[in-house]
Amino acid sequence: MAGRPVNNVGMDPVNRFDERAATWDDDPAHVERARVVAAAIRDSVPLGPSVRLFEYGAGTGLVSQALCDTVGPVTVADTSAGMRKVMEGKVAAGVIAHARVWDLDLASAPLPASEERFDLIVTVLALHHLSRLEPVLSNFATLLAEGGRLAIADLDEEDGTFHGDGFDGHHGFDHDALANDLRKAGFPNVSFQRCHQIVRDGRTYPLFLAIATRT
Ligand SMILES: C[S@@+](CC[C@H](N)C(=O)[O-])C[C@H]1O[C@@H](n2cnc3c(N)ncnc32)[C@H](O)[C@@H]1O
Repeated sequence: MAGRPVNNVGMDPVNRFDERAATWDDDPAHVERARVVAAAIRDSVPLGPSVRLFEYGAGTGLVSQALCDTVGPVTVADTSAGMRKVMEGKVAAGVIAHARVWDLDLASAPLPASEERFDLIVTVLALHHLSRLEPVLSNFATLLAEGGRLAIADLDEEDGTFHGDGFDGHHGFDHDALANDLRKAGFPNVSFQRCHQIVRDGRTYPLFLAIATRT
């Protein structure tokens, strides 16, 4: 499933995350956010060594790094080559132990045929970068085993100031609209909780954690 060409739907023509990857973990707010989100997931989803974790839009893998001691096999995916390079370094150094790093864009390419399934899919602050959510949610449903959980941490609906002009992703998410999209994709049960916030240019942007179950 790895190694396919990437088309960054919803991204800048030059992937700006490549440039930020090497110093991403130097920002204490990024590390703290991953810690808080991972703790909220741990409190909301049963974990253990049999849980196969897939993190999508994983960046430098901070959330998987925080969860890897409490789950089984870990797979992390990102469309940014820079981010994947950082994660590959962490896997080699044992920081994200025994993980696989995938180059995968679920927004623009069909899923390759595979029997492989996961028990938990986590995605943090990645979905708002995509202009179209439907293919990604539907691919998540395919990738999850029956009864598996999807944990989405992202921005509450905001006024567009988070990214400013020219951003063609989502300005956060209205919970009811996202729950509706999730239902259509095969996730009839979803719960929302407030889990963190990002302060940017003097404004506070709340983050939700949505936990959905694949039926
Ligand atoms: C704001 S960063 C969040 C990174 C990480 N989840 C975190 O919380 O630190 C968004 C990430 O989503 C990735 N991304 C953007 N579009 C993507 C896509 N279509 N498929 C997979 N990853 C994508 C970016 O490369 C970037 O690493």
